[in-house]
Amino acid sequence: MRSDVNRCWRLVSRPVGLLKDSDFTFGEEPVPEPKADGDVLVRTLYLSVDPTQRIWLDRDSYIPAIRIGDVVRAGGVGKVVRSNSPDFAPGDLVQGLLGWQDYALLRAGNRELLPATKLPPGISPELALSVFGVTGLTAYFGLLDIGRVKEGETVVVSGAAGATGMMAGQIAKVKGCRAIGIAGGPEKCAWLTEELGFDASIDYRSEDVAARLRELCPSGIDIYFDNVGGAILDAALAELAMRGRVVLCGAIGDYTASEAPPGPKNYLNLLVKRGRMEGFVVTDHFDRFNEAVSALVGWVSAGKIKNRVDVQEGLEKAPATLNRLFTSANTGKQLLKIAAP
Ligand SMILES: NC(=O)c1ccc[n+]([C@@H]2O[C@H](COP(=O)([O-])OP(=O)(O)OC[C@H]3O[C@@H](n4cnc5c(N)ncnc54)[C@H](OP(=O)(O)O)[C@@H]3O)[C@@H](O)[C@H]2O)c1
Repeated sequence: MRSDVNRCWRLVSRPVGLLKDSDFTFGEEPVPEPKADGDVLVRTLYLSVDPTQRIWLDRDSYIPAIRIGDVVRAGGVGKVVRSNSPDFAPGDLVQGLLGWQDYALLRAGNRELLPATKLPPGISPELALSVFGVTGLTAYFGLLDIGRVKEGETVVVSGAAGATGMMAGQIAKVKGCRAIGIAGGPEKCAWLTEELGFDASIDYRSEDVAARLRELCPSGIDIYFDNVGGAILDAALAELAMRGRVVLCGAIGDYTASEAPPGPKNYLNLLVKRGRMEGFVVTDHFDRFNEAVSALVGWVSAGKIKNRVDVQEGLEKAPATLNRLFTSANTGKQLLKIAAP
């Protein structure tokens, strides 16, 4: 790998459906120079691969879409190469919005979505981007703050074998709840119950989700943690318990669709059951990230929460690796390794 060349993926056209390499250019450019005070040059080591990037490529959402011609936006962990900031020194491992490129020029204090932060000592890039990263924190705030989880409740999680879902179900167990996971395929479903301690799982590819929810939740669903939207959300709404909560974390089933999905038929059950459905974006809780990481470190150290990462290698595989989320190829947190730490 040449240290004077920055390989980077730039967006050429808005993708339709799954990504194609031709939606981007993959070129070689000079490594950017830190010039201004606060500039920090970072060598990318790992990229986080997140469903929300598919939305960023497509349209404005909670942040503006990636502009045509820009480097593809993505979170990641890298090593500081040069620094004009008193907060970062060469050799530091940092987390931030590095993008699909070998070298990123971060500007200290710039908060497009999340400011760059140093990794705590002893935390590897893989841990920082999974169990102690955005997806672990999303599960934490989604279940505790939006779901307002209480001991003894029944919690149903969709996308349960993915990065956020595996954490939401395990945190539900830590909180003394019954956890039911919905995932695609027998291997993922067996992993949830046999390895992660979920009480039951539903294979949405081969089973009737509505019937299985009725069978597994005779007193209704207290919290439905939704990662997928669509027909599974509708089936969960139908089984809501009195004062049930729907945590709108994401709707991955809709991100590559060319048309907006039909509205949920069973939404009126929110009225009947005096329920609540609330969306959130994890970065809203940035000021409390330390609290969440401390709790997660405690649960992992006590053996109450297990982590799993799914690591692909090579910057040239960036579009193909993002597609893995939409073809159900990943189990656990999807990462892309760019260089050794
Ligand atoms: N609100 C926030 O702040 C926030 C933050 C992070 C993530 N999220 C959301 O959380 C969700 C999960 O994200 P993640 O990073 O943890 O990804 P992930 O769950 O690790 O990966 C995506 C998984 O989604 C499932 N999936 C894909 N297409 C599907 C479909 N059409 N129907 C049902 N399941 C489908 C696949 O698992 P199967 O094998 O089970 O199909 C796939 O492995 C996403 O909706 C994401 O946008 C929200």
